[in-house]
Amino acid sequence: MKIISVLSRKGGVGKTLLSVGLAQVLGELGHRVALLDRDPEGSAMGWQHGAQAGGVVLPYRVIGPIEATRLEPVDFLIVDTPPNDTRTLQDTARQSQVLLIPLLPGAGEMDRLQETVQALSMVELQDGVQLGFVINRTEHDNVSAAMRPALEELGYPVVAQIRKAVDYQRSFGNLIPESLTAPFREAMTELEVIA
Ligand SMILES: Nc1ncnc2c1ncn2[C@@H]1O[C@H](COP(=O)(O)OP(=O)(O)O)[C@@H](O)[C@H]1O
Ligand SMILES: [Mg+2]
Repeated sequence: MKIISVLSRKGGVGKTLLSVGLAQVLGELGHRVALLDRDPEGSAMGWQHGAQAGGVVLPYRVIGPIEATRLEPVDFLIVDTPPNDTRTLQDTARQSQVLLIPLLPGAGEMDRLQETVQALSMVELQDGVQLGFVINRTEHDNVSAAMRPALEELGYPVVAQIRKAVDYQRSFGNLIPESLTAPFREAMTELEVIA
């Protein structure tokens, strides 16, 4: 089982969207996928409830921390995490083979990223752990365009960019439309999780 965690100290950067998107693309490839919702706010869990209520079959299962202790075998465990919770962030990171950090465009967002990087720097990570940054809610402007070079300047590998699209918001409790799933696949191929 490979553990892929989605981490940021900051809320609203797209942790849940990225978690759900990764779970969907890996599930659609035929892998057995569970999404562990470690956020007490339960957004990922709410996504699954919405799907159940609408009769939508998701290609992954969302579980809570209690269910995680008696998890049936899966190929991938995606872990969605809460904001402002260094302990959960560090505990999740310690157990993960792949770490993904979403962030939004903007100089202030780059600044805020340091909190997350610093929390991670205090953790003894798994051997061969892979780390990738995902720029979320990109637009066709200079602010978005400046992000990749700025991150790469710092040695932070950018593995995907997700454009701003209201259809991501609308997909809560549903499948993310096929036309919007490319960035999730790209993150996974960049990190050689899938071919
Ligand atoms: N690329 C995007 N385009 C449009 N809306 C987005 C995008 N990414 C996230 N959102 C919306 O922004 C809000 C916060 O995203 P979410 O994934 O819940 O962040 P987090 O889990 O980090 O708090 C949600 O309403 C979500 O639908
Ligand atoms: Mg969330």
